[in-house]
Amino acid sequence: MRIKKNDILTVDKYIYEALYNRRSGYYMKGNPFGISGDYITAPNISILFSEMIAIWIILFWENLKRPKKFNLIELGAGNGEMMKQIIKTFDRFLLFKNCCKINILEKSIYLKKIQKKKLKNKNIKWLKNLSEVSNIPSIFIGNEFFDALPIKQFIKKNNEWYEKYVKFSKLNQPEFVDILVDIKKIEKKIGLKISHRQKFIEYSPLTTEYLKIISNKINLNNGGLLIIDYGYWDKNMKNTLKSIYNHKFNDVLNNFGRSDITYNLSFKLIEKILKKFLKKEKITSMLIGPGAGSNKKSFLLNLGILKRAEIISKNLPFSKKADIYFRVKRLIDKHSMGEIFKVVLGTKKNVNFQTGFIN
Ligand SMILES: C[S@@+](CC[C@H](N)C(=O)[O-])C[C@H]1O[C@@H](n2cnc3c(N)ncnc32)[C@H](O)[C@@H]1O
Repeated sequence: MRIKKNDILTVDKYIYEALYNRRSGYYMKGNPFGISGDYITAPNISILFSEMIAIWIILFWENLKRPKKFNLIELGAGNGEMMKQIIKTFDRFLLFKNCCKINILEKSIYLKKIQKKKLKNKNIKWLKNLSEVSNIPSIFIGNEFFDALPIKQFIKKNNEWYEKYVKFSKLNQPEFVDILVDIKKIEKKIGLKISHRQKFIEYSPLTTEYLKIISNKINLNNGGLLIIDYGYWDKNMKNTLKSIYNHKFNDVLNNFGRSDITYNLSFKLIEKILKKFLKKEKITSMLIGPGAGSNKKSFLLNLGILKRAEIISKNLPFSKKADIYFRVKRLIDKHSMGEIFKVVLGTKKNVNFQTGFIN
């Protein structure tokens, strides 16, 4: 749509138009990653991140008793960097590689072009939608995927619930307005009690839609969903909506279509949604790096990222060695991504696979 004066949009519609409008959306017309972009993601920080994920995928497949046909589905593949490194690792495990069918779900036509160029001749299927995923055991992986999906926001004031909207009274000066809603009616429609003990809600209808389809695929064919994303496990939801422009925080209402808009996932809510759709589910979680204090939980350390860093840097000059370790530190240090960036695995209960998730 083309926004006009006095238009009023729900927050999820506002985010959708800002990020995914076919002509002017942020993700539809440019490459947001790296120094010349607005932000950097884990696969673009260090190839070791993608290597660890690749090894984890192979071990997951082994745990499923090496099915002869197996799907890997990457959700939102960005500039294709993670998939490029994953395939490079798979090349050293041919038994697995011959069983693995690689799929990508990508909304941005612009990024899809970059992916197709980077991953030329790699035998990848770009999916139009998730119902195209073939009915064989499948692992779905989303790295910073769900935090890029639009959310609705609701706020409780004087015991009444209001939905947040963005109003364009002046075209280039949008503002937030709160509109009274019947939250019970909304909860009935979506089949989830999202307001229980909350004062603020961030809820993504699109995430729920995807989790439903993915859960149905897993229920039918076995497999799992690995979510790697920014988020928190606290019971209380909070207002985490933020915008990034040129590597700096930006007002969510500024630079419409030119800045990224993202939020931190409420993993409690993700868990609630998965419990609704995934039959006899098992949901496990880990921090990507060791957390604060003596709580040394870390998905990447458990998978041996430091050992791998040691191996690949062995005969390199000091500056290259330092660069490798600097990048790994960025991933696992609690002051950068280590604590807020989390890994969540959803499977059926009978999949007894804990690699990466136990110390
Ligand atoms: C924050 S980026 C992360 C990219 C990549 N996973 C990485 O870690 O570098 C989000 C990605 O999800 C894609 N995306 C957003 N909404 C989508 C949707 N509904 N379906 C498919 N892809 C989507 C974006 O275009 C982008 O490629």
